[in-house]
Amino acid sequence: MNYNLTNKTIIVTGANSGIGKAASMQLAGMGANVVMMCRSKERGEQALQDVRSVAKGGNVKLILVDMAEQTSVRNAVSQFLSGHSQLDVLIHNAANFDHRQTKPVMTADGLENVFATNHVSIFLMTHLLLDTLKKSAPSRIITVASKGLMTYPFLNIEFDNLVGEKKFSMQHAYYHAKQAQVMYTFDLAERLKGTGMTVNCVRVGNVAVPDTRLDHLPKWLLKIYHAKRKFALTPEKMAETYVWLAADPSLQNVTGGYWDAPNMPVKANKNAYNRATQQRLWDVTEQLVTE
Ligand SMILES: NC(=O)c1ccc[n+]([C@@H]2O[C@H](COP(=O)([O-])OP(=O)(O)OC[C@H]3O[C@@H](n4cnc5c(N)ncnc54)[C@H](OP(=O)(O)O)[C@@H]3O)[C@@H](O)[C@H]2O)c1
Repeated sequence: MNYNLTNKTIIVTGANSGIGKAASMQLAGMGANVVMMCRSKERGEQALQDVRSVAKGGNVKLILVDMAEQTSVRNAVSQFLSGHSQLDVLIHNAANFDHRQTKPVMTADGLENVFATNHVSIFLMTHLLLDTLKKSAPSRIITVASKGLMTYPFLNIEFDNLVGEKKFSMQHAYYHAKQAQVMYTFDLAERLKGTGMTVNCVRVGNVAVPDTRLDHLPKWLLKIYHAKRKFALTPEKMAETYVWLAADPSLQNVTGGYWDAPNMPVKANKNAYNRATQQRLWDVTEQLVTE
């Protein structure tokens, strides 16, 4: 798989690690201008060096963003827009799945941190970049969900528990936000039909996470991760599906899809296709975005 991405500008969030970094390397290696949006200056700068070392003529840069904070998302987008009038692909890869968290943590915007990072800020960032994506059409938006959602076939949006007021577990909060991502993808794809902007969601399965990212885990969970790793895809292999969705010419008009590796259409749970719930989620998310 090799595409000529010269003059294409692509944002990848969470680009300093795992699949986001692997995708950034592959896209830069095909000539794209890659904007790596990362939370940590130190980890971001290290990854920036690695991505730049494989770049084929494109401009690779780092913009800092903490997806848990709407002010940070707004600042990152402003920084991007001050240097760019074109955006061909927006890849929402970053996500919080910090298993140390046992209680809801509130953000400065008064939201539960996991829902804020893994759903609300993605909505906000997309909307702040929509005009630029529209001007750059054909353009693509890629969101990221999880194969683990298959173990929650009846999961739906819990409109009465959005800030973890009724119940909270990290795992539940994570999958709830990923369910929201799938529904947001389907809804946004409908709303953007005919604009030249497509929206697709990746269903990431079991992908190896390096030990350096697991050192905070309790021993029992570490054992599970190590056992899972025997069957895991490498981040590089999973990233190939991101790159395919970002670049393959056959997908120019394909929108509202849900895709697993290798480049394979998959079905979400039944609730994800409910238009009324999708639209309610949109309205509620809009209200959670501060002015
Ligand atoms: N690995 C799997 O088995 C698996 C399974 C299902 C779904 N996924 C999904 O795949 C995507 C990539 O995960 P991965 O496996 O590559 O994990 P990873 O290596 O841990 O990467 C996650 C990235 O998200 C960033 N991030 C987390 N919170 C952030 C915040 N508040 N602001 C900005 N960036 C933030 C991390 O930055 P820091 O370095 O600052 O933490 C890191 O760059 C995620 O959406 C994840 O939910 C992964």
